[in-house]
Amino acid sequence: MGLLEGKRILVTGVITDSSIAYHVARMCQEQGATVLLTGYGRLSLVERIAQRLPEAPPVLELDVTDDEHLASLADRIREHVDGIDGIVHSIGFTPQEALGGNFLNTSWQDVATAMHTSTFSLKSLSTAVLPLMKDGGSIVAMDFENEVTFPVYDWMGVAKAGLASTARYLARYLGEHDVRVNLVSAGPLRTMAARSIPGFAELADAWPARAPLGWDTNNPEPAARAVVALLSDWFPATTGETVHVDGGFHSTGA
Ligand SMILES: NC(=O)c1ccc[n+]([C@@H]2O[C@H](COP(=O)([O-])OP(=O)(O)OC[C@H]3O[C@@H](n4cnc5c(N)ncnc54)[C@H](O)[C@@H]3O)[C@@H](O)[C@H]2O)c1
Repeated sequence: MGLLEGKRILVTGVITDSSIAYHVARMCQEQGATVLLTGYGRLSLVERIAQRLPEAPPVLELDVTDDEHLASLADRIREHVDGIDGIVHSIGFTPQEALGGNFLNTSWQDVATAMHTSTFSLKSLSTAVLPLMKDGGSIVAMDFENEVTFPVYDWMGVAKAGLASTARYLARYLGEHDVRVNLVSAGPLRTMAARSIPGFAELADAWPARAPLGWDTNNPEPAARAVVALLSDWFPATTGETVHVDGGFHSTGA
């Protein structure tokens, strides 16, 4: 029996086979779940990547900032499954002007785009799918260390701090629906989103030396495993929590 036997999981955020979400989707299937993907923008690319999973899942279009996409999402999911037991939020976007040392000059418009896509979207996605979570369930979102600053992460760090708070408020409001909301805070991984952050390579290079367990920036599997564990029935009384999967980096001072 897999950890997710019989569960129906909606996974957002696959764009390449290095996406954290791709490895989450693969492991969910390996652990017995039925997986549905959402894709943003280049749908045919997401569909091609989806073919590489153990079983090719349906891919539903979702721009998480598009109210019409969100309003129709539950009905489009119902064409494939009659309920959802877990949601994976693996979405992030920040305009270049909000990254890489431009913190003092970033416009509100660019910050608003980052917050809408990377922070508020956890609320929008959760409430859009909630009608399908009649038996409760688990929502997991991907976080990055945001209690301290980094030279290049800038407004994405602010967006992630907001994401952490959003997860805690969702945990408060969705508890009565028996829905848990938790975060996995992963160390740096070489994905498309990471490559778009100027100076991210230097940040990533510093990580393995400081993390007590070391850290492989090319291996998304530890983060994906934690997501699967939080989606499973093995964290039944945990909500509003952040699980760090960063080799222990966050616990060190220098
Ligand atoms: N790579 C890292 O170092 C790292 C570390 C910790 C947390 N994270 C977080 O993990 C999550 C996934 O990122 P990743 O590193 O796998 O990169 P990725 O580029 O593979 O995934 C980012 C995803 O966000 C999606 N997206 C962007 N705008 C969207 C929109 N408007 N609507 C719907 N989807 C949209 C993209 O299509 C893409 O699939 C992000 O939240 C990221 O901040 C990444």
